[in-house]
Amino acid sequence: MHEQEWDQVANTFEEQIFNVPANDHRGLINQAVERFASRDAVATDLGCGVGRTLPLLAGHFGRVHAVDVSSACLAVAEEACRSHDNIRYVHADLARDRRGYPQADLVLCINTWLNADPAMRMGIVRNTCQSVKRGGHLVLVVPALGSALLTTLRQVQLNQRMGMDPAKAERQALPEGPAWAHGLVPIDGVPTKHFMAEELEALLGERGFVVEEVEKLEYGWDTEFTDPPAWMGAPYPWDWFLVARRAR
Ligand SMILES: C[S@@+](CC[C@H](N)C(=O)[O-])C[C@H]1O[C@@H](n2cnc3c(N)ncnc32)[C@H](O)[C@@H]1O
Repeated sequence: MHEQEWDQVANTFEEQIFNVPANDHRGLINQAVERFASRDAVATDLGCGVGRTLPLLAGHFGRVHAVDVSSACLAVAEEACRSHDNIRYVHADLARDRRGYPQADLVLCINTWLNADPAMRMGIVRNTCQSVKRGGHLVLVVPALGSALLTTLRQVQLNQRMGMDPAKAERQALPEGPAWAHGLVPIDGVPTKHFMAEELEALLGERGFVVEEVEKLEYGWDTEFTDPPAWMGAPYPWDWFLVARRAR
């Protein structure tokens, strides 16, 4: 999605855009923020949207930069977080140059590396990495390719249980998408980049980061299916949650 499209969802963000922090039942995001918290430190929320994680950062860090390409989302965030006086709002396109905010001790980046266009996405990845001070940390959440494949398998099983023959069950379950091999899987019809954990380790390693933690941030099957049947249990769908330190 591009700037205009993000602007268009700003007022209906809560209904339209999946809320990762609210569904982080193990509290992985909170724990990471608390681990690095310091009143002398700076935190940045890259792709902050309507500001779901800004109060958490503002409560634990001396200064916070809220960065997003959508000025409409930033306006909603600013209104929602007006009781916090240590947040600065920055309109910036991470796919271009990094400007308008300093490097931070902690960069939180939740589902911002979604762009299907490889050049734009690589710009976002590069600028995310360059937004972290040497010795600082990146806390990243991204969609998982393995989770998308698991969801497809579950759809095949559902189809078979509804009486479809195995070949048709597989054909019907495969979402139309431009390039699964490149991790592009549609979410609500929008081609969206999904990652392998190994891919993240390689991407970040090449950019001077040491990955310290990789976890599955798991959700219920009700995030993928309406009224999922009782037999549909673990393993559950997930996003990747990752903590990495910038070593150089
Ligand atoms: C899926 S939303 C996630 C928002 C927020 N992190 C959250 O968890 O609620 C992705 C956000 O990234 C922003 N974004 C997308 N591309 C961007 C870019 N090139 N530069 C800066 N922000 C971008 C969008 O405007 C949107 O607010």
